[in-house]
Amino acid sequence: MKLLHVDAGITGPESVSRQISAAVVDAYLRAEPTLEVVRRDLEADPAPHLDGRGLASLPDNAILREFLEADVLVIGAPMYNFGIASQLKAWFDHVLVAGRTFKYGPAGPEGLAAGKRAILASSRGGLYAPGTPGSALDFQEPHLRAMLRHMGVEDITVIRAEGVALSPEARSQAIAEALLNARAVARDFPRRVAA
Ligand SMILES: Cc1cc2nc3c(=O)[nH]c(=O)nc-3n(C[C@H](O)[C@H](O)[C@H](O)COP(=O)(O)O)c2cc1C
Repeated sequence: MKLLHVDAGITGPESVSRQISAAVVDAYLRAEPTLEVVRRDLEADPAPHLDGRGLASLPDNAILREFLEADVLVIGAPMYNFGIASQLKAWFDHVLVAGRTFKYGPAGPEGLAAGKRAILASSRGGLYAPGTPGSALDFQEPHLRAMLRHMGVEDITVIRAEGVALSPEARSQAIAEALLNARAVARDFPRRVAA
């Protein structure tokens, strides 16, 4: 079993998405100590932005291979300017590859990477949860879900800390709740992945 741990937060030790994603990985390792964890830190080792040359070599790149080999994806995904971090978008540009992770046919797009479980460690300064007035401005989580589903990844769990910029108290509470949820996320592992 392989877990791919991706982080895109650029706020160093203060990064909320990194705290949450680390807690999720920790929970998985407690549930399954033999789990192989592959690390992709997009701040330390950024995925190159896609250009013409990169497009030509897309069908076989290290980022894509890591993705294809993973059973569980843990993605630290901060909201920056209402969307995902540009580093994370660059990573997805290497992973969404026609003929490898999806294909188009007469019936439309078909995902080729089904069977993986994705956990999104989402952090944002304001409030955008479904049902809140800010939800129309959430171009982060829907974008992540759309890209994963396009590849056939349907088992998506979001661990979210939001409102972290509203006040120190709101930040502490949102992080504490997210960390609690992160610890609980692996309780059905590995049965759920194997199912
Ligand atoms: C460059 C930048 C852009 C941001 N843009 C938004 C935004 O559009 N909406 C929002 O609610 N919070 C925004 N924030 C706040 C972050 O979403 C919040 O600090 C979150 O914790 C970021 O994740 P991180 O702590 O892992 O870096 C922004 C923060 C930064 C650094």
